[in-house]
Amino acid sequence: MKTKIIITGGTGYIGSHTAVALLESGYEVVLIDNLCNSSINTVGNIYSITGLRPKMEIVDLCSKKECDEVFNKHGDAIGIIHFAALKAVGESVQKPLRYYQNNLTALMNTLDSAVKNKINNFIFSSSATVYGQPEKVPISEQEKTKRPFSPYGNSKKIGEEIMEDLTLVNKELSIISLRYFNPIGAHKSGFLGELPTGTPNNLMPYITQTAIGLRDKLFVFGNDYPTKDGTPIRDYVHVLDLADAHLKALERILNGQNESPMEVFNIGSGKGYSVLDVIYAFERVSGQKLPYEITTRREGDVPELISSADLANEKLGWRATRGLEEMVASAWEWEKKLR
Ligand code: NAD
Ligand code: UFG
Repeated sequence: MKTKIIITGGTGYIGSHTAVALLESGYEVVLIDNLCNSSINTVGNIYSITGLRPKMEIVDLCSKKECDEVFNKHGDAIGIIHFAALKAVGESVQKPLRYYQNNLTALMNTLDSAVKNKINNFIFSSSATVYGQPEKVPISEQEKTKRPFSPYGNSKKIGEEIMEDLTLVNKELSIISLRYFNPIGAHKSGFLGELPTGTPNNLMPYITQTAIGLRDKLFVFGNDYPTKDGTPIRDYVHVLDLADAHLKALERILNGQNESPMEVFNIGSGKGYSVLDVIYAFERVSGQKLPYEITTRREGDVPELISSADLANEKLGWRATRGLEEMVASAWEWEKKLR
């Protein structure tokens, strides 16, 4: 019999790519999502890629009753990958309670249902924002976490602390928190990718929407940072590499290879690219000029975030394999297919 894994936030951007990776590796997959930031069509798109249809449960994990019901129904699952969260950094500053309420309630309800159903293997979507402005780059997992600038980022930091407390008393639980750097790109089939609602906050979808004509130009938020060309440097990681990291993390805890009840890994490429690097990579792969204008800094941005990817390589056997041009080209293919 196939082993069952629950993916919360499973119709979202990263969850859907991870669902494909799990199905292709022989797992039975149950997606749980309330569709607040994704579409039910994703289930069909996953089927188009894999020939396998994951079970879909439309559930708001903030409802304790709905959450308990769905976990009782799938109590035979052996692992949970928890993606469900709201993720717009700027919006979280405007609506802190909405972000704390959704992200922390959904996490706590899911953990409570996991414990009750003895589903002891749990992977959490965290973020490089937990490092705030780091003391040095590349950032290793030894770096102290700081209070993130946004309520969104803080919900990740608090989420990690909640899980740490829980593992102190629930000895059977094994948790891995993956701190993603900057996920971009799309599935090579063109069936899955990022679907931002409204005006994108993130660089990659803003670039592709500008190139396709939905936006007049890209605004580059500052060129006076202490970096090689003055624009901020980030560690971009292909969503397919990210999906593979979840598979490897899951297998580590399923096989009992974890060295402590709660482990933390950076998931980044270990390479840094400036905003202008990304624009130029886009121009190379698309063969078209991107209209852009340098404007003032965006509040909360830090000059440089680059991961040390060594621990994930050593312990998970994972390393990012796809380069910047491949990431940007796949995002562009996805944008063109959408329109
Ligand atoms: P996404 O918005 O595409 O996916 C999140 C999914 O969770 C959505 O489908 C949404 O409908 C669902 N969801 C939200 N609240 C829910 C609730 N209460 N009940 C049920 N479903 C709910 O986002 P993504 O980019 O795929 O991100 C996945 C995870 O990774 C999130 O936890 C996010 O915070 C984290 N993360 C993302 C990035 C990034 O840049 N994309 C970076 C670091 C961390
Ligand atoms: N940028 C622009 N113009 C835009 C959008 C972004 O110049 O229209 C710049 C930003 O100033 C930043 C870089 O592009 O320097 C990357 O910005 P993103 O918004 O794409 O990504 P962030 O690094 O701000 O944040 C992302 C995710 C967060 C996550 C974080 C972890 O959005 O959820 O990575 O590093 F927490």
